[in-house]
Amino acid sequence: MHEFNNNWLKLRETVDKKSRNLKIIQLINKKFDNNTPVSIIDLGTGTGSNFNYLKPKLKFSQNWVFTDISLNSINYFKRNLKLSNKIIKTKFQIFDVINDLDKIKFKSFDIVTGSAFLDILPKNWFYKFHKFNSKTEIVLFALNYNGDFKFLPKHKYDKIIVNLFNKDQKTDKGIGNKAVGPNCSNLINNIFKKTHHTYLMNSKWNVEKNYQFQKYFLYFCSKVIKNNKVDYSSWLKFRYNCIKQKNSRLILQNTDFLAIKK
Ligand SMILES: C[S@@+](CC[C@H](N)C(=O)[O-])C[C@H]1O[C@@H](n2cnc3c(N)ncnc32)[C@H](O)[C@@H]1O
Repeated sequence: MHEFNNNWLKLRETVDKKSRNLKIIQLINKKFDNNTPVSIIDLGTGTGSNFNYLKPKLKFSQNWVFTDISLNSINYFKRNLKLSNKIIKTKFQIFDVINDLDKIKFKSFDIVTGSAFLDILPKNWFYKFHKFNSKTEIVLFALNYNGDFKFLPKHKYDKIIVNLFNKDQKTDKGIGNKAVGPNCSNLINNIFKKTHHTYLMNSKWNVEKNYQFQKYFLYFCSKVIKNNKVDYSSWLKFRYNCIKQKNSRLILQNTDFLAIKK
């Protein structure tokens, strides 16, 4: 399994929080009564970014189940967990959401959710997931990378790097199967629209002053370049230099997906 670095996940959280689409929260809040606890399962919880974002925004009381294959990330989340009086129950499960999907009792949840998770999953997972969730009230997958990013100022190799990055996004991300990559939002939308009202909403990153974050992202680009055995060191040098001079901005297109039972 590819282990996601907890420092990166925490760094992402600040950027993700500002990027997510607020209209989605309004639509979810309309569906539930304030006083009856709503059961929620979070798939691929990591260090808890999805919970930390949704907890204060959802107006109703909540029972949460958190699932992740990484004990390390779940332990990190547990150590830093902050509850509120709206949170009635929490449960943690170290669980393989990809291979053991059929073991989750989806019928017992009103909301099935995940963030920054969908694009690493294989295509057949989406169809299986829908089979188990065709009657689920709300399905929400936030912050799905949709295949486009740019750094500013521009450089002549920018497009080539995005193409290499997107190609890499469709490779096996440590799960033994090719990932769907940037097409994940369209795929889930096409599958769920048969049974749900579905919404695709923009949740792009717009990172201007967070240079540590930009450096981290550049590091991922450098790994992709290295894996492809191509030489774009001039692009990397230019980008690191822009960051050093505090003249760099990263814009990355994400999509939030919401499905509400018809
Ligand atoms: C990019 S992180 C996103 C974490 C978190 N949802 C967030 O928004 O920061 C993807 C998460 O999926 C988890 N993951 C990867 N494969 C998994 C699997 N087969 N079953 C459960 N979780 C998995 C990773 O451990 C990681 O925590």
